[in-house]
Amino acid sequence: MTISLVVEQDDTIIGHVAFSPVLIDGEDLGWFGLGPVSVSPSLQRGGIGIALIEEGLRLLKHRGAAGCVVLGDPNYYRRFGFTSDHALRYGDVPPEYFQSMILLGDPAKGEVTYHEGFEAR
Ligand SMILES: CC(C)(COP(=O)(O)OP(=O)(O)OC[C@H]1O[C@@H](n2cnc3c(N)ncnc32)[C@H](O)[C@@H]1OP(=O)(O)O)[C@@H](O)C(=O)NCCC(=O)NCCS
Repeated sequence: MTISLVVEQDDTIIGHVAFSPVLIDGEDLGWFGLGPVSVSPSLQRGGIGIALIEEGLRLLKHRGAAGCVVLGDPNYYRRFGFTSDHALRYGDVPPEYFQSMILLGDPAKGEVTYHEGFEAR
């Protein structure tokens, strides 16, 4: 993990997001993967997930990250600026579910791999 953020309420963790480095065609180009992200079920849809992700992306930029990818519901992640341009692929995952966002680097193209601890395949 490069970034791991939690939200606490009354000494209990109620939300978490992680970002970890990814490779593109086997190369470290300064890109990262968002996920997993989770919020306690009873507290979902109250803005905690958005706050965690926005803060994580801000910290990634602060570290000079080139970009970030995410595997998940495009309807949720597009609000942060993630889009599917089909240039970054993740196995046979349909492109609309594998989105990316350039932060401070150049556009990238190729097959993405996560650290084995975060591989979803
Ligand atoms: C996905 C998740 C992290 C979002 O966090 P959250 O705090 O509930 O969401 P927020 O309150 O910050 O965001 C609210 C917005 O997201 C939308 N949203 C929430 N969960 C969504 C989901 N699973 N799919 C699509 N949209 C979702 C809401 O409709 C709302 O949209 P609106 O502002 O247009 O009404 C949370 O619902 C969760 O933990 N889900 C279970 C785990 C999961 O699926 N994680 C993602 C894959 S690792």
